[in-house]
Amino acid sequence: MTIIVTGGAGFIGGNYIYYHLKAHPEDRVICLDKLTYAGNLSTLSAVMNYPNFRFVKLDICDREGVYRLFEEEKPDVVINFAAESHVDRSIENPSVFLQTNIIGTSVLMDACRKYGIQRFHQVGTDEVYGDLPLDRPDLFFTEETPIHTSSPYSSSKASADLLVMAYHRTYGLPVTISRCSNNYGPYQFPEKLIPLMIINALHDKPLPVYGEGLNVRDWLYVEDHCKAIDLIVRNGKVGEVYNVGGHNEMRNIDIVKLIVYALDKSEDLISFVTDRKGHDLRYAIDPTKIHNALGWLPETKFEDGIKKTIAWYLENQSWWKEIISGEYQKYYQRMYANR
Ligand code: NAD
Ligand code: TYD
Repeated sequence: MTIIVTGGAGFIGGNYIYYHLKAHPEDRVICLDKLTYAGNLSTLSAVMNYPNFRFVKLDICDREGVYRLFEEEKPDVVINFAAESHVDRSIENPSVFLQTNIIGTSVLMDACRKYGIQRFHQVGTDEVYGDLPLDRPDLFFTEETPIHTSSPYSSSKASADLLVMAYHRTYGLPVTISRCSNNYGPYQFPEKLIPLMIINALHDKPLPVYGEGLNVRDWLYVEDHCKAIDLIVRNGKVGEVYNVGGHNEMRNIDIVKLIVYALDKSEDLISFVTDRKGHDLRYAIDPTKIHNALGWLPETKFEDGIKKTIAWYLENQSWWKEIISGEYQKYYQRMYANR
């Protein structure tokens, strides 16, 4: 099987490529990535020379380039991870989110229609369901929960999901969609909560918690997400959506405190800053469908996953030091200096 993984130089796509090459060494894997600020070729350095791996620097919005690649490689499967993925950046400037997340997804699907495909899998997010109230722990997102977005990011991802379902209904494109909760693990870009807090704590820098830190996210170790996607691509039903999450809800403040203790730092580093605009209160996935239909269950407990993640950031300082020395500094100043 030949598989195109878009966004494979990013966090989840990179972890997926490692997972896939190990689980299915007989497959040919092509990573298509534009290498935006969030894409790092060093993430893929260990597989770069594999004979069944190819990296192609390309924008998913570049129709000619994408068609050329499909003509060359004749992929059986496309898994679309490529996206602008950070909510705070989408609040600053929505337009690139609409371009990549919506237009880019449609270009990929047009290529799939033109050249034929066994499966187009869209990596979606639970954020398309909006948020749940903090005082209703009995409520969860199911696949039937209405789309009800809050941020330009989630709106662009919801638009992509709607287009994916429209290509299935209109053109019979064999699609599946997964909607996953918050991921954590190795290679996550340091603008996101967990790596940002680990790296700031290591430098004894303030830990900027939005609002009162009471917002709840449902955390899943990235490898469990990769397994779920692989299962959906192989055994999932065409035209279906699968929610992916492991019932691991945590308040932001509790995650930050856990990182502070694990690194033997002081809670005094915690600094409550102006809340995010439109900040979603709580995300919580009901994973019953993927469990019953495909037998998927998360394997990594949060207490183990967070230890592994912290250890990874300690052992791989050159990976993130390169990132935080560049363009990221300017972003950090813009986002946090006067907050
Ligand atoms: P990321 O920001 O770490 O990586 C995104 C990758 O896509 C980067 O390598 C970037 O270079 C590439 N990219 C961006 N625009 C591109 C374009 N126009 N053409 C080609 N490549 C482009 O993101 P991530 O956290 O790995 O998320 C991957 C996917 O999973 C996204 O679709 C995201 O919406 C979804 N998702 C993420 C989470 C999470 O917790 N991180 C949870 C659920 C779903
Ligand atoms: P994030 O990692 O950006 O993921 P998402 O917004 O997609 O869930 O943020 C996770 C939670 O952490 C979210 O409630 C916002 C909060 N947060 C902070 O409190 N401080 C920060 O510096 C960041 C980046 C996030």
